Amino acid sequence: MKKNFYITTPIYYASGRLHIGSSSSTIFCDSLARYKKQMGYDVRFMTGMDEHGQKVEKKANLKGLTPMEFTDKLAKNAKDLWASLDCDYDYFVRTTDKNHVEQVQKIFDKMLEKGDIYLGEYDGLYCVECETFYTQSEVGDKKLCPSCGRSVTVAKEESYFFKLSKYQDRLLDFIETHPGFIEPAGKKAEVVSFIKQGLQDLSVSRSTFKWGIPINANPKHVVYVWLDALFNYLTALGFYEDDKSLYEKYWLNSEVVHVVAKDILRFHAIFWPIFLMSIDVPINFRLYAHNWILMYGEKMSKSKGNVIYPRTFTKRYGSDAFRYYIIREFPSLSDTICTPEDFVSRYNSDLANDYGNLVSRTISMAIKYFNANVSYKETDNEFIKSLNDKINETVSLYHKDMDEFRLDKALQDVSSLVSRTNKLIDETAPWALFKENKLDELESVLYALLESIRVITILYVPYLVNSTKVVFKALGIEDDKQGLLDYKLNGKMEYTVSNLDSPLFPREKDVQKAKEEIIQDMEYELTLEE
Ligand code: MSP
Repeated sequence: MKKNFYITTPIYYASGRLHIGSSSSTIFCDSLARYKKQMGYDVRFMTGMDEHGQKVEKKANLKGLTPMEFTDKLAKNAKDLWASLDCDYDYFVRTTDKNHVEQVQKIFDKMLEKGDIYLGEYDGLYCVECETFYTQSEVGDKKLCPSCGRSVTVAKEESYFFKLSKYQDRLLDFIETHPGFIEPAGKKAEVVSFIKQGLQDLSVSRSTFKWGIPINANPKHVVYVWLDALFNYLTALGFYEDDKSLYEKYWLNSEVVHVVAKDILRFHAIFWPIFLMSIDVPINFRLYAHNWILMYGEKMSKSKGNVIYPRTFTKRYGSDAFRYYIIREFPSLSDTICTPEDFVSRYNSDLANDYGNLVSRTISMAIKYFNANVSYKETDNEFIKSLNDKINETVSLYHKDMDEFRLDKALQDVSSLVSRTNKLIDETAPWALFKENKLDELESVLYALLESIRVITILYVPYLVNSTKVVFKALGIEDDKQGLLDYKLNGKMEYTVSNLDSPLFPREKDVQKAKEEIIQDMEYELTLEE
């Protein structure tokens, strides 16, 4: 029976245009989803929009739109963006969807009924940008949000509270007994230390604005946007609806991974499991928390003018190159600093010079020396043997890295195989073999090169979603065999290759000029409307 895999991105606030930082989680999830499909899993990949709350209401007002008109527009923009980046999700959840709203209302009722929620008064500090409550010690004398650095406001209003402290010990016990719950493991310590400081009851409703899900028992209150948003992971499976098949398949009987960035880890590692305990749903998800992509060393923000949108790169280099860059530089263990020059040099070195060149050189030689037909030839050539060892080693490293969510390392593994394969051309000098009429030896070299390209291309499938199809076609590999992980050498393939219509990744010749044009485009994109 197929194993199930459910992977989710955070649902993005419908408050502005999504930049390269926000697209990193979605590209990461899409790549992992594609890999799991290659490995034979039944995958459900979900993303969406977080549309309620004070921040969205405020931004809509500023634009002279109703919150619904505003979020309709942003949800459409997000879908267009994901399509342009080849992010192939199965479901796009919007927290304004009727079925989400109704399920959240029922969940809130259940928590009230259980006695986990009570009515009180909130008197404290709130960051509207992050939709987060803070204590005095967290914001300091200057009253600045510890996450985004903006001024926090004083919130004093009637509010429902959730008894987080009731579940504190159960949560600590859960985290201790489930070592893989928070990945990478280094992030676990900060969560545990936060819990050990003692969890305060959490305000879970707001009554001073309207844009949210009304609470059945007291409709002048709307549900706190984080309680509303976190449940998207379940409402999108219809878990409180009559047909529970998706919930049973992708929650109860599935591997579940929520991918989040570090600033929202606390919500996912503390509030989310506690909410699930409250309504008796098993906590069988794992969290993968990544760091940030910084632009010139700072968190991207429109006001600082250092925001870069995916389109700036995709319109010049295509979606594959952008996806590759994001995952190759993915902020797995520390923040990544993105600059236009890094992008161009990574593009030139890994894609244009190494992979692109390897493919075009090999295909040209196969056409020139063997009229496009290359078959398996027995060989005891040491260089070929060493390449074959490298292939086997790379494939096992790659799977290990993918299983540990280190997609960046997996791409390094493949790059190193690409370099090793290019080296075979220098080691064996096919043009000299041709001159010396050593055709059997030459064919075994070309066969080894083509086999290696086939394996490399299979390993690139989750990332380079368009160019890998072009390469498979040029290798004469049929559609239904393209994604298969049957990488074994000595498979005795018969290759009939054909020329590429155009270079896979045309080399950027003038790097300085490219950088200037990218910066100009960044500035232009900043002037465009949401
Ligand atoms: N709406 C909440 C998530 C609710 S999930 C139940 C939210 N939205 S967000 O739009 O502000 O951020 C979505 C994700 O994008 C977060 O994980 C956030 O950290 C991530 N990123 C935003 N800027 C980023 C970078 N510059 N780099 C990497 N990730 C970044 O939080």
